[in-house]
Amino acid sequence: MTAEKKVVLLSGMQPSGALHIGNYEGALRNWVDLQNSGKYKMFNCIVDWHALTSSSDETELLVPRIYEMAADFIAAGLDPEQTAIFVQSQVKEHAELHLLLSMIIPIPWLERVPSYKEKRETLGLDNYGFLGYPILQTADIIIYRARVVPVGKDQLAHLEIAREIVRRFHYLYGEVFPEPEALVTKHAVLPGTDGRKMSKTYGNYIALGDGPDIICEKVKNMFTDPEKIHKTDKGHPDRCPVYIYRTIYDADLPVDLKDKCASGDASVGCVACKKALMQAIVDYFADFRAKRSELLADKAQLDAILEDGAKRARERAAETMILVRKAMNMYGS
Ligand code: TRP
Repeated sequence: MTAEKKVVLLSGMQPSGALHIGNYEGALRNWVDLQNSGKYKMFNCIVDWHALTSSSDETELLVPRIYEMAADFIAAGLDPEQTAIFVQSQVKEHAELHLLLSMIIPIPWLERVPSYKEKRETLGLDNYGFLGYPILQTADIIIYRARVVPVGKDQLAHLEIAREIVRRFHYLYGEVFPEPEALVTKHAVLPGTDGRKMSKTYGNYIALGDGPDIICEKVKNMFTDPEKIHKTDKGHPDRCPVYIYRTIYDADLPVDLKDKCASGDASVGCVACKKALMQAIVDYFADFRAKRSELLADKAQLDAILEDGAKRARERAAETMILVRKAMNMYGS
């Protein structure tokens, strides 16, 4: 397929520290597959300005988190040659487009976005940038005239507002952008090590970069089926995080394990099951860990990768801004 025939795709993630296996299953693994399908021209944006909407009090963490995220992306299989991997704040056009779009968006559109309402209450966020979060996200997408955005279900409201913003822009100034579509990631939602949703705040995650000792420690402390206390108690493997992880990471998972566990067969038990899982996860991410440490040990190389990504992103963003300024009759256009 020639470069022009490829569908433009934009993916984005906030640099909130090292990625965990839930992020990998929920997003990254899918991005790598999309990249390897060869159908897309991919832009992958580390959205540091978005991170500031909720962490303006810890800006010193931002740069180390960006490096970790870039290393995680590349170690997991995003190839900087095929996918432009870059930092949002390095492409100033996002900010210009965000500003211009902010002139045509009624505040109630923003106030009714579910994540705004929810986080405003739970995190007590009330800054102006946070209200404008969906406009900035829209700018991230349409600045590349992207058609496709791979996201989890939690982002559908943001995609919907992006489409509304595009339609409003077109109504006022004429057609410039495709209406971006969500490509909803189909994946098994990975529970946390304690069975709740995997999350940084709960501390119930396994990070992609965790070394063997940490993996073993975390797996040792994992929750299993609370109803299975003795080996001979009937288990519920579908509700057991250890079993669920094994179905993903253990290539040698015995086919009869599930039935044996469910029937309380004394030849299988949670301790042995955890041991097998430790080894499986350690092995599964061994290459990943090696690549990740190698990347993190050479910041100059990471900088070069991110700069090259930003350069390619800027080229496309600059083309879009010429069209936007013209459509809006801006001075000098
Ligand atoms: N809001 C997204 C999230 O929390 C992050 C994001 C910002 C994003 N800009 C984007 C995702 C553009 C996709 C496209 O996950």
